[in-house]
Amino acid sequence: MTTLPLALTDRSGAPFDVRLFAPGDRAALQAMYQDFEPKRAAQGLPPADAAAIARWLDRILAEGTHLVVEVAGAVLGHAMLLPMSAERAELANFLHQSIRYRGIGTRLNRIILSLARDAGLSRVWLCVEPGNRPAVRSYERAGFRMTPGQMWAPEVEMEAVLEDPPPA
Ligand SMILES: CC(C)(COP(=O)(O)OP(=O)(O)OC[C@H]1O[C@@H](n2cnc3c(N)ncnc32)[C@H](O)[C@@H]1OP(=O)(O)O)[C@@H](O)C(=O)NCCC(=O)NCCS
Repeated sequence: MTTLPLALTDRSGAPFDVRLFAPGDRAALQAMYQDFEPKRAAQGLPPADAAAIARWLDRILAEGTHLVVEVAGAVLGHAMLLPMSAERAELANFLHQSIRYRGIGTRLNRIILSLARDAGLSRVWLCVEPGNRPAVRSYERAGFRMTPGQMWAPEVEMEAVLEDPPPA
């Protein structure tokens, strides 16, 4: 079982916390996405302006499991697991530019997969642009595999099969 919150350390040795989103985090999440760069770089997300971000958050926060990454009291990351069916859910995650490439995204993916396993899901699916190398790499390291034959598509699907043991 995965128990949140988790107090962790990134690759540079800096501490960060991962916990479940609470309604009181909504304003901090809105602020993070307003400051997020580049906007609309991952399948058009996050949206470009404050009103569109608010509408998007209304929609996605209404369902699924949402985690936030907190660094020194500031919300700087968001991972979401959105239900697709009784067995399958979609993953997406967004880290503020100030905390990328330190292993936090890979760690977050692994936590989300553990939570999905605990919830009895059998697959976690996602869609990513293959040119987004850090994203693809962080998903692969957490156990996602690309569906064969998509290498040159503008967006590719990746899936983690949860019966498989987690990668070492
Ligand atoms: C995608 C994202 C969540 C990944 O989280 P992260 O903490 O930055 O990623 P990690 O540090 O865990 O892993 C990134 C990996 O890519 C590698 N990487 C970084 N830049 C790279 C590049 N230009 N080319 C290839 N690999 C690269 C890193 O070395 C690391 O691999 P390693 O662990 O084997 O060294 C984060 O970068 C992000 O929020 N990006 C913007 C939004 C986004 O694209 N979201 C994904 C939507 S599908």
